[in-house]
Amino acid sequence: MKNDSLDWDQSKINAFQKALVGWYESNKRILPWRENNDPYRIWVSEVMLQQTKVDTVIPYFERFMTTFPTMRDFAEAEEAAILKIWEGLGYYSRVRNLQKAMQQVLLDHAGKVPSDLQTILSLKGVGPYTAGAILSIAYEQAEPAIDGNVMRVMSRVFKIDADIMKPATRKLFDSKLRPLLAGTKPSSFNQGLMEVGALICTPKQPMCLLCPLNEFCEAHQDGTELDYPVKIKKTKVTKKKRIAVIAIREDGKYLIEQRPNTGLLAGLWQFPTIDITEDLSPAAIKLQFLKEYHLDIHLSQTPVTAVKHIFSHLVWNVDVYTAVIDGYEKKDSWEFVREEELEQFAFPVPYQKMWRQYKEENND
Ligand code: ADE
Repeated sequence: MKNDSLDWDQSKINAFQKALVGWYESNKRILPWRENNDPYRIWVSEVMLQQTKVDTVIPYFERFMTTFPTMRDFAEAEEAAILKIWEGLGYYSRVRNLQKAMQQVLLDHAGKVPSDLQTILSLKGVGPYTAGAILSIAYEQAEPAIDGNVMRVMSRVFKIDADIMKPATRKLFDSKLRPLLAGTKPSSFNQGLMEVGALICTPKQPMCLLCPLNEFCEAHQDGTELDYPVKIKKTKVTKKKRIAVIAIREDGKYLIEQRPNTGLLAGLWQFPTIDITEDLSPAAIKLQFLKEYHLDIHLSQTPVTAVKHIFSHLVWNVDVYTAVIDGYEKKDSWEFVREEELEQFAFPVPYQKMWRQYKEENND
């Protein structure tokens, strides 16, 4: 591992800043959260951007801002409304934490997003990345915002071979970035690094000839860009086989249930689902639903569709059956809804997928 102090002289630091900030200011993408430096908008965008790509985030961000134009609108919203806005983005605890943090800002900080590091870090769900992004982008403070893109770019610039999956590695990047951030425009500098990471210094095919940082990049000097960043994967993936039923009552309403308030996909809605350890016949599936759900159904002979969904450490393989409900013992977490009402409930992506595929199978 390389030592963590920056051994560049001031003129090299100045040249790096000029190259990066200059490039960003003429090449930055026009994005809705870049229209102004309102900390509320920047905060929301940064939490969304931790989950997925810019292109996916744009429509979510716009819907969010139309629905909740002010922090107060969001802080006072019902849980069902905030889950619905987040539907499909994943990591639903993040939107709940965001709401709690914004409630804290309204209550304890007179509605102003804190501009000092310690205070902002004390808010629910705000870690060093989000804190650095808000402080630099909204308030022009010289705080690094170190995400995966930034680590990829800087690991190549400095040939940092520490494992970026280890939390301790962040310190190393932090200590390299602080001297580089001093005396520049933190908002453009940090977003410049993110933008270089997203557009130029990509994981597999970096476009080094177009890179504003190529003359500073140690990996580029010896053609070893692809050796960085070092990422040691050791997460074990759990696979689960599941059966979901799209079950319809004689009045044409579908049975949906709300997931528990804690754990994976907490509070979201789904079609009744069981875990299985071996393939089961429709008769055995019927028995299992009777046992686990107190739900008496008769099922299609074969699955109507199948859905695979990959969470970070978990893979679901779900076979989906249709079923007609013959009897049940209603639970508080259940609702019977007409098809047109389904869209009022927040469903996780795999359940959205199975509904779409089920509708396609039925040709409408
Ligand atoms: N990724 C994370 N934050 C970003 C931002 N502000 N702009 C573009 N991409 C990002």
